[in-house]
Amino acid sequence: MKLRIAKLPGDGIGPEVVDQAVKAVDAVCRRFGHDVQYSFAYVGACAIDRFGNPYPEETHSICMDSDAVLFGAVGDPKYDNNPNSPVRPEQGLLAIRKRLGLYANLRPVETFKSLVDRSPLKTELVDGADFLCVRELTGGMYFGEKGRKDDGNTAYDTCIYSRFEIERILDLAFKYAQRRHKHLTVVDKANVLESSRLWRQVAQEMEPKYPDVNVDYMFVDNAAMQLIRCPKFFDVLVTENTFGDILTDEASCISGSMGLLASASVGEHTSLFEPIHGSYPQAAGKNIANPVAAILSAAMMFEYSFGLMEEGKAIREAVAASIAAGIVTEDLAAGGKAYSTSEVGDWIAKEINK
Ligand code: IPM
Ligand code: MN
Repeated sequence: MKLRIAKLPGDGIGPEVVDQAVKAVDAVCRRFGHDVQYSFAYVGACAIDRFGNPYPEETHSICMDSDAVLFGAVGDPKYDNNPNSPVRPEQGLLAIRKRLGLYANLRPVETFKSLVDRSPLKTELVDGADFLCVRELTGGMYFGEKGRKDDGNTAYDTCIYSRFEIERILDLAFKYAQRRHKHLTVVDKANVLESSRLWRQVAQEMEPKYPDVNVDYMFVDNAAMQLIRCPKFFDVLVTENTFGDILTDEASCISGSMGLLASASVGEHTSLFEPIHGSYPQAAGKNIANPVAAILSAAMMFEYSFGLMEEGKAIREAVAASIAAGIVTEDLAAGGKAYSTSEVGDWIAKEINK
């Protein structure tokens, strides 16, 4: 198969971890006989520095012309503490989501047997936890009307959702639930928010279409508690953009490190695959960041974009083997030997080709 991949490493540790994901992709393509071609493009702070735009038109065309986007991270501290900055790296990520129509962000939370003791939660709570967070990605407060009034002394962000937006994300979540353990948890704040009441209404109307799926509804504050109180309760969790942002960072503790969580953003145009950890500027250029989330994002790319399940599995097995063999970066080393980003990437690529 011919695979055209847009490579958008972005900022911070993005380039280092995407390099390791590319090694894994190359190894899989060698093993299974695929022809892969990469197109590099700028996004985030590096794109602002170069073009004054965090998501340049050229980057957009490259993404539109590719079969998948392999994304690193965006963000740079020089923008974080300047509320007056007219343009911010994160706008690049929001623009790419909006313009590629990536309305669904899929964030699987899994545990690795050999790492259950690295989780800040008790082993018996996390061992065996395995669920999928489905986060709506192009609506809500992130994209609703926002602004200032009263000479800048009052600010607002609007959480707005249409039935259409709610239906398409719920539909996807119901379908994932059908393929998994048929349990869907719809997370909202319907006791307070009108947008949440519409979510709940739409979800209830859709339930009869998926009679095999067991649905429950949970307020987001309670969900935040249940995620760490009994993570094994969840199978598929679906929620709006902002709640999903917060809950998935929380959920990353379950597997022991944020450096392990991969994600896929899917929707109308080219799908995008991205580690959830962000640009981690303190570690940039030090060759210490955990590349596993980026490598597992590449596995998701094979599975979700190309339907190449064996290829995805080959990557997952190599990652699991690296962790079992203790070939891990410092975030997971727990006093043992810490390997560098590139050593972990090389080991995994070699394992794929074994
Ligand atoms: C994420 C990130 C982004 C978000 C930021 C970088 C805009 O935190 O992908 O979760 O808030 O969606
Ligand atoms: Mn986030």
